[in-house]
Amino acid sequence: MKAVVIRTFGDPDGLEVVDLPVPVPAAGQVRIATEAIGVGGVDAVIRRGTLAGYGFREGHHLGSEVAGTVTDVGEGVDASWTGRRVWAFTGLSGGYAEQAVTAVENVLPLPDGLTCVDAVTLGGSGVAAHFALDRARLAPGETVLVRGAAGSIGITAVQLAARAGAGAVAVTTSSARRGARLRELGATHVLDRRGQALPGAPDTALSSFDVIVDIVGGPRLPLFLDRLSENGRFVAVGVVGGPPPADFGTRLMAAFRRSLTFATLSSDSVPGPDRQAVRAAQFADAAHGALRTVVHQVLPLDRAASAHRMLDAGEVFGRSVLTP
Ligand SMILES: NC(=O)c1ccc[n+]([C@@H]2O[C@H](COP(=O)([O-])OP(=O)(O)OC[C@H]3O[C@@H](n4cnc5c(N)ncnc54)[C@H](OP(=O)(O)O)[C@@H]3O)[C@@H](O)[C@H]2O)c1
Repeated sequence: MKAVVIRTFGDPDGLEVVDLPVPVPAAGQVRIATEAIGVGGVDAVIRRGTLAGYGFREGHHLGSEVAGTVTDVGEGVDASWTGRRVWAFTGLSGGYAEQAVTAVENVLPLPDGLTCVDAVTLGGSGVAAHFALDRARLAPGETVLVRGAAGSIGITAVQLAARAGAGAVAVTTSSARRGARLRELGATHVLDRRGQALPGAPDTALSSFDVIVDIVGGPRLPLFLDRLSENGRFVAVGVVGGPPPADFGTRLMAAFRRSLTFATLSSDSVPGPDRQAVRAAQFADAAHGALRTVVHQVLPLDRAASAHRMLDAGEVFGRSVLTP
């Protein structure tokens, strides 16, 4: 079968299309003929070699999120899975391929009306967005900032915050055009990456927020801690801008009397059945249009390097998807 591996760490040219044996599902696993493969930021991080210290080596077979049809099951798995349309998490490897295997606990049937492409756009990121807002205890009427809203986590967080009755849903993004698209999804205020109103934007100033969902991290994170209201909650979900300064906690302690909360949220820490229940509800919402997915581009699997180039260039709004 066709698959994509990292021949050499570094830029996207180091990705290589290869022939691999069709994987055989082990006990407790299913095999899926993929129809859509999500391209995530973590794939690019692994490709660059940043995680070499965590055991990722050249030759690594990329990909963590797929959707398609179950073609075989391993020992102990109900044979009725065969033929079902599913979404699946494959761990941090094995997804960039015509066939992928994973444990049956990581698989969720797709509702009628949800395409495989939409499933891999929402499947992993929607859960992170949901549990970030849950961790922040967002209450109706409160103000929210989604920092780094133009990716698939932010796009879902904006919609969920608006649906939960937030008093204002602000976003940071790099262009007015992206801001306009985020407004269509429920954003009420558009800020630039530094947190200032974009030039020419019609927004009244919003100086502070009850909740900040942060996908960016990076050197500017402390500036946003300063923007929390009294009793405000900051939930770090991603670090697309790199790690924050090591002393950012000093900022929190300096604001001691304002009772701020800083939390991280990884969906890995959420019990699997809770993740699957939220994912199933979001899939049902997306199937009947109550939750929107934003697909940047669908490319053939053998153009994985092009998808990574777009990711590296910051061109992706929403999610890029590969199809075999
Ligand atoms: N917590 C979890 O459970 C979980 C689950 C999956 C992934 N993640 C993490 O979430 C992140 C990926 O999320 P995603 O796919 O939604 O994001 P993404 O698409 O990679 O990025 C979101 C947006 O952030 C903005 N951005 C990028 N670099 C920036 C910088 N240096 N400074 C300020 N803004 C910047 C860009 O928008 P603009 O150009 O419009 O500013 C970009 O579109 C990764 O860190 C990944 O590890 C976490």
